[in-house]
Amino acid sequence: MRFDIAKSGSGLVYEIRNIVNVAKQLKQSGVEVVWENIGDPVQKGEKIPDWMREVLADLLREDSTYGDSPTKGMDATRVFLAERVNRRGKVQITPEDIIFFNGLGDAIARAYSAIRLEVRIIMPEPTYSTHLLAEVHHASFPPNTYRMNPYCDWSPDINELERKVKSHKAIVGILVINPDNPTGYVYPEETLARIVDIARRYDLFLIFDETYQNIIYNGKKTVPLSDIIGDVPGISMKGISKEFPWPGSRCGWMEIYNADKDQAFARYIDAILTQKMSEVCSTTLPQMAIPRIMGHPEYESCLAERLRHYEKLSNIAYGILKDLPYVMVNRTCGAFYMTIVFNEAVLNSRQTLPIAQEDVRGYIERLVAEPIESDKRFVYYLLGATGICVIPLTSFFTDIPGFRMTLLERDETKFEQVVRTLGEKIVQYVESAR
Ligand SMILES: Cc1ncc(COP(=O)(O)O)c(C=O)c1O
Repeated sequence: MRFDIAKSGSGLVYEIRNIVNVAKQLKQSGVEVVWENIGDPVQKGEKIPDWMREVLADLLREDSTYGDSPTKGMDATRVFLAERVNRRGKVQITPEDIIFFNGLGDAIARAYSAIRLEVRIIMPEPTYSTHLLAEVHHASFPPNTYRMNPYCDWSPDINELERKVKSHKAIVGILVINPDNPTGYVYPEETLARIVDIARRYDLFLIFDETYQNIIYNGKKTVPLSDIIGDVPGISMKGISKEFPWPGSRCGWMEIYNADKDQAFARYIDAILTQKMSEVCSTTLPQMAIPRIMGHPEYESCLAERLRHYEKLSNIAYGILKDLPYVMVNRTCGAFYMTIVFNEAVLNSRQTLPIAQEDVRGYIERLVAEPIESDKRFVYYLLGATGICVIPLTSFFTDIPGFRMTLLERDETKFEQVVRTLGEKIVQYVESAR
């Protein structure tokens, strides 16, 4: 090449997918991998109901499914979604306040890249990697975060949030993920109201990632941003990857609230839209399917059945892990992840798990010979010793060592076995060198 062409990265890695390369290497050596790394219900065996397949088959018989859609998205779908917000009777939006993207991953990338370089969005810690990577890439500086506290059910430190907002004048917006990934925390209305109040007092806007808004169980309750935002400018991000579930559709949308109330916010939304226009539009088929699937008589009961399943798995995992030494867990009540935290100072760089197969052991030993985070070391040994593939918690940009697993397994007996194995391996690993 006449010039070096690749832009230098931030050095940050999307570990949720990166760990797959390690697991695939082990698969070649005959290790049977249990994929606990990725939040894709379909990959974990979720069956798409027949009525949903029929909706899609019908749509494929219509020529319009194969065409482009308007830049903001299909009109009828945006009317349908705007009505769902307006029916709640709080904030009122029009279909023009909705913009479709190719999955929320795309919406997230657009949201941060349209922000001026010198201004920042404060986000939870740990946080879902796509938000953090997009924000850090945009600013080329480490993130501003407010901590979620594992010893307080993973609730956010609102005082820290306010302190940082007050002292870092570059912060223009607050990200909330509700329910949260990776912690599974479900925000009570009072906490959300405090965050909205901070945004109002410091003249900020809000980004609420509400991907998991309808995936809540164990009796927990929350409210969508649209219920409590009042006149503060904000964006709700929603999608169908988790809820239908149809992650392969690459379909998500932004609902924009109160763009008419703040000119700077309105210009920001325009910048997002201008970028989107140059990309033409987002995938048409899933947009056309949304009203037909969400409005289908079977929709609510299908979702309810899935919630019962996640609730069951959440309680099985909590029951097995809650009294285990060396770690701390909270009962998951939203989304479908469970995060296990190692107690302070229980991990060191001498701990190991026995791995019978020589080539697998050699591979893992090479990986951990590099200086790596203590939880990543555990995750690699766990993968080599058992085939269970989880994500180190530090990959979600926190200093707290731990790991995230999913509650997506369809086979309850297998799930219970996996969690029991996890429990045994945690104890064995920690006690291998103390
Ligand atoms: C909190 C959160 N936001 C956004 C996404 C991305 O969603 P999509 O599949 O629509 O790109 C995910 C996916 O795991 C997520 O957990």
